[in-house]
Amino acid sequence: MIRLRRAITGLLTSTAVVVALAACGSSEASDTETLTVYSAQHESLVRTMLEGFTDETGIELEFRDANDSELANQIVQEGDASPADVFLTENSPSIDVVDKAGLLAPVDPRTAEQVEERYRPESGNWVGFAARSTALIYNPAEIGEGELPASMLDLAEPAWEGRVAIAAGGADFQAIVSAVLALEGEDATREWLTGLQRNAEIYASNTAIMKAVDEGEVPVGITYHYYWFRDQAQNGLIGDDARLHYFRNQDPGAFVSISGAGVLAESDQQDDAQRLVEWLTSPEAQERLADSSALEYAVGVGVASAEALPPLADLQAPDVDPGSLDSELVTELMQDVGLL
Ligand SMILES: [Fe+2]
Repeated sequence: MIRLRRAITGLLTSTAVVVALAACGSSEASDTETLTVYSAQHESLVRTMLEGFTDETGIELEFRDANDSELANQIVQEGDASPADVFLTENSPSIDVVDKAGLLAPVDPRTAEQVEERYRPESGNWVGFAARSTALIYNPAEIGEGELPASMLDLAEPAWEGRVAIAAGGADFQAIVSAVLALEGEDATREWLTGLQRNAEIYASNTAIMKAVDEGEVPVGITYHYYWFRDQAQNGLIGDDARLHYFRNQDPGAFVSISGAGVLAESDQQDDAQRLVEWLTSPEAQERLADSSALEYAVGVGVASAEALPPLADLQAPDVDPGSLDSELVTELMQDVGLL
């Protein structure tokens, strides 16, 4: 059935394809109709957003899934020879590494216009396709609402020794540190990390943090919002006792992290690759994100996020250019203080 529909779609669009090829002066169609996508975002979310892409365009997708820094490092190492056509990250610092290495092509202006301006970098070489808010997960049985810190930076104070959970090795936490660095500078970030090194209990993931907080192992943890909301949607399977606290007030702890999508400059399928990024940021794909169980925020112009979530505008995120986050310095500082 799918094959039949694709064949019909193919027939219907073949004229348009000829016109498109003639228009860009290309005499040769690309040999292969498979795009290689390096993806560090959650697999189910990416697959949901790309639903229908192959049926509609005839372009097959091959995924290489790994985490942000693994894939960014791989692309930089592969350089001009990288098989990647498109790079999708969970957090923006890693796509910026690839951008700063000069390996990304400019995003089609028409694609960029589909995304709100604050969710794309000044370089114009990648675009946001999802957003996630930093939050503090806490256990009300262990800590009263009035005792919660006013700022995420307070968690470095001696009073928090042994009382805060972080997933230091994860790309999510490191993106949050990169925001602290962009907002507070290197010295203040080093100081904050030094305090955290003394105070923090280290966990392997955001889900592990939620579980530990729920079970009273540690009263608070730094996380992204959607882990808790997903769990709530499943009736609090892991974290029914845990609650979320938002720092707001443009605090570094109110940082909103962007998932980025970009086209590799050396891809020999520029048009197909641009089409995929256009698809991801289209109102239809953004609505699929909003309707999915991912519970991340949509970034498409005029697209509302899931109703279960507080509006992003109410969370008073600090102003951070998503293209200004320095993951290399973050790694260095975290290694210096012994967090990595
Ligand atoms: Fe995640």
